[in-house]
Amino acid sequence: MKTVKIKDKEFELFLTQEVIEKAIDDIAEKLNKDLAGKDPLFICVLNGSFMYASELMKRVTVPSEVSFVKMSSYQGTSSSGKLKEIYGLEEDITDRTIVIVEDIVDTGYTMSLMLEQLACDSPKKILVTTLLLKPDALKHKVQLDYVALEIPSDFIVGYGLDYDGYGRNLADIYKIKNA
Ligand code: IMP
Ligand code: MG
Repeated sequence: MKTVKIKDKEFELFLTQEVIEKAIDDIAEKLNKDLAGKDPLFICVLNGSFMYASELMKRVTVPSEVSFVKMSSYQGTSSSGKLKEIYGLEEDITDRTIVIVEDIVDTGYTMSLMLEQLACDSPKKILVTTLLLKPDALKHKVQLDYVALEIPSDFIVGYGLDYDGYGRNLADIYKIKNA
């Protein structure tokens, strides 16, 4: 089994680039059908989604705009803990068909905040695509329209996802090796 070491942790091969990109083919095919004539704006969430966004957008044939945002993380003063806010969005999304492009939905917290914040700017419609979903980890109710791959709750790296900043450039996805 192919393994990689990142900092103090060992990871083993979990999903090959080939498997991942087959799943992306399917998502692109659905988007090309559903978005025809809709003039969509894709909003990709950095840093994690860069590789998914790149492969997905190469396969999207519908005329589209592509933009990138980040979710800032800061400590709230209340007991609710970490708050997150979208930044870097320059386009006016009023009356637009929006497609959010994410790397992974884990608890769903980040996505639920994004949806809430984007909805304030009155888009025509918001659709969500994520490369990965950990269904057993979901704690927040989120709208997920196009999920490429469902995975168990183990920690993973590669294909845009990091462990402490490293591993994002791995072309395959690796999961943490349990001791
Ligand atoms: P959520 O808000 O709990 O859904 O978490 C979403 C964010 O947590 C993702 O955008 C990732 O940055 C990070 N994340 C969740 N699971 C993993 C993982 O297995 N590996 C790396 N990052 C992850
Ligand atoms: Mg992310």
